[in-house]
Amino acid sequence: MKKVAVLLIGLLALAGCVPAPNTPDQKESELIVVGFSQVGAESEWRVANTESMKTALCEANGYELIYDDARQEQENQIRAIRSFIQQDVDYIVLSPNTETGWDSILQEAKDAHIPVILVDRRIETTDESLFTAYIGSDFGLEGEMAVQWLDEMLQKRAQQSSPVNIVHIQGTLGSSAQIGRSRALENAVFHHANWRVIAKEDGDFTRAKAYEVMSAIVKSKPQIDVVYCENDGEALGAIDALEQAGYECNVWNGVIVIAFDATHLGLSYCLDGRISLNVECNPLQGPYVANIISALEQGKPIEKIQHIEETQFDCFTITQKDIDGRAY
Ligand code: AHR
Repeated sequence: MKKVAVLLIGLLALAGCVPAPNTPDQKESELIVVGFSQVGAESEWRVANTESMKTALCEANGYELIYDDARQEQENQIRAIRSFIQQDVDYIVLSPNTETGWDSILQEAKDAHIPVILVDRRIETTDESLFTAYIGSDFGLEGEMAVQWLDEMLQKRAQQSSPVNIVHIQGTLGSSAQIGRSRALENAVFHHANWRVIAKEDGDFTRAKAYEVMSAIVKSKPQIDVVYCENDGEALGAIDALEQAGYECNVWNGVIVIAFDATHLGLSYCLDGRISLNVECNPLQGPYVANIISALEQGKPIEKIQHIEETQFDCFTITQKDIDGRAY
């Protein structure tokens, strides 16, 4: 189904996708058909990411979006992509759960001449021609921002030489977000003789899993200085478990909790001091995808790899205004 021909009215009544009644000046137009394979709905970040895609790629903007939620399974993503190919969509948008194992299915898309746009996470491949563009976060940079801030904070806490006990709650293993953020912490630990990871667990980017693994860690009441969580959901779950076990989460004399995403909820924990640092990961990627498709449609050159600019918030400088101003 290449570019479904539809009757579009001169103007749509509202910004929503509501067609006005037929008028003599109606003209024939085409919708661009996009198949979007999303990882799942594991976090608030992911929900905001899905919404952003659906809003940018709606009918009023000239798209027909075929959306598939893979429920965290790569197998489901492969099945969805195959079905997009069978439906002969114009573009495939893929947010890959993990980095490896995409070559065969993307080769099928390439053979069918369907451009693939990767969003959010990257893939590991030796054949870069298997995808047309990538738009998402620089996860390595996010991790570096976090450990740099931590280094400075520990100096302020006069902990630059005394042992720093770190709990590391990782995101979905093998995903770009986990790989980039974990690598930054691992490098920093390597370069600081007094930093040591006392526990490392997979929190799968969910509050429930992080709560579960953190509850097990605190059972023996270890000294914990830092909990490095690879997203907001994990930070919330870890804080629940820490507080239940009697730990205090705060930057000066408690556990320093580090999170990524900077969603509304994560930032409200930052405002009340329970998350010390929250590094932004921007899920609003729909408009970027629409721009890429529009450029490709017009035969304009595109940048193959695009990273979204991101910032960070800490408990010292965050304000309610920062939180209110956020769209997710
Ligand atoms: O890939 C982006 C990560 O995936 C976000 O940090 C996390 O919240 C999500 O589930």
